[in-house]
Amino acid sequence: MNRSLLGKQVNREMIDELKNNTQALLSFLQNQNDGTIVYVLEKLGRLENGYSREPLLNLLNNQNENIRALSVKNLAKMSDVSLLPVFVKYASKDESTEVRREAVSAIGRLRNEQAIPTLIKFLIDNDPKVVMQAIRGLLIFADRLDIKQELKKLLNHPNELIKEVINKEVNGFSYKSNSSQKHDEFPDQIKNAVVHGDVQEILKYVPDESVHLTFTSPPYYNARDYSIYQSYDEYLKILENIFKEVHRVTKDGRFFVLNTSPIIIPRISRAHASKRYPIPYDVHPLLVKMGWEFIDDIVWLKSEASVKNRNAGFLQHRKPLAYKPNAVTEMLMVYRKKSDKLIDWNIQQYSWDKVKKSKVLDKYETSNVWRIDPTFDKIHSAVFPIELCNRVVKFYSFIGDLIFDPFAGSGTLGRAALNLNRHFFLTEKEPKYINRIKEELNKSNNLFSLKDSQPNFINLENFIKSFKGTI
Ligand SMILES: C[S@@+](CC[C@H](N)C(=O)[O-])C[C@H]1O[C@@H](n2cnc3c(N)ncnc32)[C@H](O)[C@@H]1O
Repeated sequence: MNRSLLGKQVNREMIDELKNNTQALLSFLQNQNDGTIVYVLEKLGRLENGYSREPLLNLLNNQNENIRALSVKNLAKMSDVSLLPVFVKYASKDESTEVRREAVSAIGRLRNEQAIPTLIKFLIDNDPKVVMQAIRGLLIFADRLDIKQELKKLLNHPNELIKEVINKEVNGFSYKSNSSQKHDEFPDQIKNAVVHGDVQEILKYVPDESVHLTFTSPPYYNARDYSIYQSYDEYLKILENIFKEVHRVTKDGRFFVLNTSPIIIPRISRAHASKRYPIPYDVHPLLVKMGWEFIDDIVWLKSEASVKNRNAGFLQHRKPLAYKPNAVTEMLMVYRKKSDKLIDWNIQQYSWDKVKKSKVLDKYETSNVWRIDPTFDKIHSAVFPIELCNRVVKFYSFIGDLIFDPFAGSGTLGRAALNLNRHFFLTEKEPKYINRIKEELNKSNNLFSLKDSQPNFINLENFIKSFKGTI
């Protein structure tokens, strides 16, 4: 081993030097701890066909599965079909499924017809990730009828990701839009409309695929005076029906951000327990079932001073089981209307100029914990802080888009939409909150400066007429 090499710290430069001297690389790797070997293997970069295989083949006997997997990965870069038997051996026999996945991926990366029988064999592997790698390798030959037949056999595979890929790639399944409108357009009747009425009625008249983004905070179950339901089941059923409609009116691949949190119904007397309802966790499965794809969970974190103190008892007695933490968080659950199109497709539906103008160029929160203090309002007891709306609107829509809040309350989302050069569509059933929305929108910078952003306050009857073309 070249002594000057060993003396140096392992860095990029040194790895390049070792790469050009395979003899040195071979003996260097024999004398290192696992961490250094992994580091070198991760940083090896491009390896051409014809590069000396010895150092990497040697490492395939290493006890550490991570090292074996990385060695296979590096060998795969050489696109050398004579390595096929090596890959087949490790794909079939290695005890680590990580190594097997890398080996099947390596077989696929050869892009060689000789690899086809082996890849077909791995379509019935127990590990779905191995199957997925085999599919990936075979898709290169998917215009061959026999390969298509083999892949079609996976249409009933128990794994949902495998089924989805096969449906899209082989079965040619592709989403068909029901809308005649372009992706960046929406019906004029809902542009800056504030409709007074029950959202369940209102949505019946809104055409499919009309809105770009929905952000809402539904009424809490019995937590406030505006939300009285007979039972929790009834409450969930109503939300389910409304969110199904939100799904229908949402454009392909666009987002729905739902703000909820578990709520507590206080006990009726000291002889009874209070009850906590885990709303986010109960709503989530309903959303997924109706076709919303879960994207992210953002935690809205409030200061402890701003929330109800539940600690008084425990602070005194300190008895286990009776611990009651102060609830300083609410959830922002982010969903996307399930689509076979990637987010890139959605972005491509906008002009270059609109995309440029919509870029989030200022400082932004990089984590999924958003520290924002709650806003208190004299009229409405549960309003969004404007900062919360601003972030959601900026991150999940483009300028000119239509942003919807089915439970508008005081209309904070409408104000954010206007200020950020978007349009809004708000529905609210309580007259006193409709008046509050009028006041709120007056606060908007854009309202009177742009003729285009005048709000249209309308009742259900006139809203229906507007779709029939009679007003
Ligand atoms: C949690 S508040 C929303 C507050 C709002 N995010 C804000 O910033 O002011 C829920 C609102 O939904 C309204 N609401 C409840 N059920 C409704 C329904 N079926 N149709 C329309 N609005 C409804 C309530 O009147 C209440 O104002």
